[in-house]
Amino acid sequence: MTRRRPTSLRRRLVIQLLALSAVLSALIFLAVRISADRASEETLDAVLGAAAVSLAEAMRGGDRDGGSVTVDLSPVTFSMLAAMGEERIFYRVDLDGRTVTGYGDLPLPAELPDALAPRFYTVGFRDTELRVAAVRRSLMVAGRPAPLLVLLGQTRDGQEAIAEGLANRAALVGLVVFSAAAIFSLLAAGSLLRPIGTLAEAVGRRGPRDLRPLRDQAPAELSPFVTALNGFIARLRGTLSQTETFIAEAAHHIRTPLSVMRNEAELALRETSDEPARARLRRLIRAVDEGARSAGQLLDHATVLYRAGQQEMAEIALGPLVAALVERSRPIAAMRDITLLPSLPAEPLRIRGDAVLIEAALRNLLDNAVKYSPPDSAIDIVLATLAPAGGGAGAAMAEIRIADRGRGLDGAAPQAFTIRFRRGSNVGDVPGSGLGLTIVAEAAAAMGGRFDLSPREGGGTCATFALPLPG
Ligand SMILES: Nc1ncnc2c1ncn2[C@@H]1O[C@H](COP(=O)(O)OP(=O)(O)OP(=O)(O)O)[C@@H](O)[C@H]1O
Ligand SMILES: [Mg+2]
Repeated sequence: MTRRRPTSLRRRLVIQLLALSAVLSALIFLAVRISADRASEETLDAVLGAAAVSLAEAMRGGDRDGGSVTVDLSPVTFSMLAAMGEERIFYRVDLDGRTVTGYGDLPLPAELPDALAPRFYTVGFRDTELRVAAVRRSLMVAGRPAPLLVLLGQTRDGQEAIAEGLANRAALVGLVVFSAAAIFSLLAAGSLLRPIGTLAEAVGRRGPRDLRPLRDQAPAELSPFVTALNGFIARLRGTLSQTETFIAEAAHHIRTPLSVMRNEAELALRETSDEPARARLRRLIRAVDEGARSAGQLLDHATVLYRAGQQEMAEIALGPLVAALVERSRPIAAMRDITLLPSLPAEPLRIRGDAVLIEAALRNLLDNAVKYSPPDSAIDIVLATLAPAGGGAGAAMAEIRIADRGRGLDGAAPQAFTIRFRRGSNVGDVPGSGLGLTIVAEAAAAMGGRFDLSPREGGGTCATFALPLPG
């Protein structure tokens, strides 16, 4: 079953904002159109009504029996009718229910107008549509009042053309509003979603072992997410530290019986003269040594992994630290008549780092140099500052070089040795677990440093461990 990918927030937001602005633009268009139509109709109706009233008032009743009517059109009535523009005009005058002049088929209003105001209505007439104003008054004909009804109809072609122009303009306004809203919604979606991007970047920028809680200022809506993420990080850290405790305890519980076993085997070796038994005991002692060594290295590795996750950096004087480590390695080197030749600068060379990580790394490098050197040789340990690579860009480094005259790397690619449990083909006779250089490489990476292993000119191996100098 394929899971549907959730729609993007940005797309959802933009679509909703666009739909909203489309509705708003349509409403603006309708509002402009309707109010413009109504305003122009009201104006035209007012003129039509006034003309109809003026026409009705221009009627004079005759005094003969037939009920004749005379129309006395004033110039004002004419100018009003002329002001109606290009429209066609139709009229009908009814006196006492009979059409006396005009178009007898001009439809009457559904309801008769009252005497005071004209009544307006729209009606189809012949091939066109008319807006009609109906006016009623009474006229004295032959000495008695008779009802007079005046209808004045007008086509509205010109008004329709004006309304169309207005509609086009309203549509343009709607379109401009919509385009502005579209740009705005894109910008708004971008700025609204920026904090999510910032947060993701803050998490993404972290090193693989950086397990500090997130402290970036996130907007209130994102804080449940940040809290959940921090909770997850805390649980992960807890699990890591439990693992570390487990390994430390396991290493301790393995090492103690192993050393008892070793002592017992050595005693037995001294007491036996049977050669096959002695050979078996020697193999046992070696296996015990390797077990003890592996337990120690596993513990170191777990510690390094845990500390790398904590990223608790402090100011460290590298010179004294290297000097102390060299002194600590002297007894083991002396057992094989190996001389350690440190060359340290006068200044302490302060860096920011984790002393536990640096010690674990250097201890392993010194251990390798001693372990893989022949008796009666010397190991050079040089601490120096290194100018930034490329003549200026990047940070200056403090570099520790440990160079021996040992068996060398036997042509193997040095980077391969940083893989867990990877050992050289020429070291079968020396006990080891293959974790030492993994620890070194991880410690260097955790502190933004660098580790290299290379064949030394004239025989032997040179290991370099470099850390960035502050500023
Ligand atoms: N100074 C050295 N001279 C020659 N070979 C070396 C040197 N340092 C490292 N190597 C090679 O790199 C391999 C990996 O070294 P690493 O320290 O990781 O493991 P190890 O020394 O075999 O075991 P341990 O985990 O006990 O240190 C070694 O087995 C060896 O082949
Ligand atoms: Mg080693």
